[in-house]
Amino acid sequence: MNAKKFSRRDFLQLSGISAAALLMNPFKRQTAPFHLVGNNSQMEPFVPDAEIAITAIEKFVQILPGAQTRVWSYEGELLNGSGVTVQSIPGSYLGPIIRAKSGTKLRIYFHNNLTEDSVLHPHGPRVPESSDGHPMQAIHPGETKIYEFQIIDRAGPYWFHPHPHMRTAEQVAMGMAGLLSVWDSDEELAVPGASTGANDIPLVIQDRNFDSSNQILYNPNNMWGYLGSRILVNGKADSVLSLEPRTYRLRLLNGSNARTYKLAWSNNMPLKVIGTDGGLLPAVVSKSYVMLMPGERVDLWVDFASATGKQIALRSLSFNPGGMMGGGGMGGGGMGGGGMGSSLAMGAAFDILKVNVSRKATFKPTLGPLPPLSIRYGATNVPNYAAPRPFTLEMGRMMNWTINGRVFEMMECAEDEMVYCDETMAWEWINNSPIPHPMHMHNNQFQVVQRTPPSSTSSYATVNQGFLDTGWKDTVIVWPGERVKIAMTFGPHMGMYMYHCHILEHEDMTMMRNYMIMDPMMPGM
Ligand code: C2O
Ligand code: CU
Ligand code: CU
Repeated sequence: MNAKKFSRRDFLQLSGISAAALLMNPFKRQTAPFHLVGNNSQMEPFVPDAEIAITAIEKFVQILPGAQTRVWSYEGELLNGSGVTVQSIPGSYLGPIIRAKSGTKLRIYFHNNLTEDSVLHPHGPRVPESSDGHPMQAIHPGETKIYEFQIIDRAGPYWFHPHPHMRTAEQVAMGMAGLLSVWDSDEELAVPGASTGANDIPLVIQDRNFDSSNQILYNPNNMWGYLGSRILVNGKADSVLSLEPRTYRLRLLNGSNARTYKLAWSNNMPLKVIGTDGGLLPAVVSKSYVMLMPGERVDLWVDFASATGKQIALRSLSFNPGGMMGGGGMGGGGMGGGGMGSSLAMGAAFDILKVNVSRKATFKPTLGPLPPLSIRYGATNVPNYAAPRPFTLEMGRMMNWTINGRVFEMMECAEDEMVYCDETMAWEWINNSPIPHPMHMHNNQFQVVQRTPPSSTSSYATVNQGFLDTGWKDTVIVWPGERVKIAMTFGPHMGMYMYHCHILEHEDMTMMRNYMIMDPMMPGM
């Protein structure tokens, strides 16, 4: 299988990190006020523009009528500095919304006040290895980990969540997740109010099961992951928004552990998509529905004028999710829900939230020019376009999920999981398993350059008009039987990062691997 085990020393050599950095940056707990910059192993003092504290705590919140629910949550506080705001969502378990200008240098003090190990992972932005929240960086209860990174990516709907070994899924299910909204001047031109979020409505969609005393019941299904029968938006059940009959920007994150949504409006108005995981699209894309798998984000520009004085719903339409009995005997259209550990089957239809549209609009924001992509990958600028590196997704007996036949090992990288800094390359996800997987890469935004549909289209035809492939992504839907080719350029940070399925139970169960971004200047590599 060509898998190599690395010692910490090997990693340091491969990624060009000096021994001094090892001393400054002990294996698990980073406390050094330095980090590595660029290709040369030079150390520069890190001077943050802003410092933030994020604390993981247990607390009780009102989710359902009656008894309060015990949750785990991130609490955020801006300690000092500029370029960043930290906004909490009152009464919600959901973590703070950190809004930061691109270019900002952030220092985050992550305090773990839970009773188990945890680590925070910034999902979406490229950050140095020591701030990426690899499971080996997890800290014990009572400890603090310091994150230091500059936001080098453009405006985008990034977010953060736990990433400890085999405990990610349950910690997220208990409530830990927050938004990191990065803005820049291009975005401010395109979307009025982008810098302050004045016109933004963040919508984090999740699903949970509750027991009879309103406590979160974490009962994942071995195959599908954790599917809840209650749909929560921003940590609240039965969400209703009151909006004016005008334009808004709806910023959706599928923060669910495992559930896929097929998003559509109840009045059949098309969804005008302006952005995805890595920020704004080069042009508006109009869709009758949008598929959103766990970890994915979508930005919608919505004009509620056509629904003046009415109530409309954002819903998830029914679809056939695949499954064991060929073509979705287990899931499609609400069948077999009991077998999934939830009364709401994957692929069932339901309302996500309701919008009450009033009669008068006070003003009407209009969309400006969307910024072009800095590069569009294709056959001419991706050297291995015709022969992408294959990554085959499979389900072994006993539900052990594998990538190229391998399972997660804390310190392992195989030869086909090594790349060079500044290298542009195509990878291809090949889904040979019976269910869809959202494949996520750390430290990278990629583009989808080709999809090869499955030979049997009974399930695919119920979803494929909802895929969004025209912008930057860090998580991509790979349907059963489908091959999805992506292209990306690695760097500028080098080191060991991860890629995995973002169904969090699959990730915890083994469907995750390391990949290594190596220094092309290192001798012998
Ligand atoms: Cu949100 Cu390792 O991912
Ligand atoms: Cu991530
Ligand atoms: Cu998966």
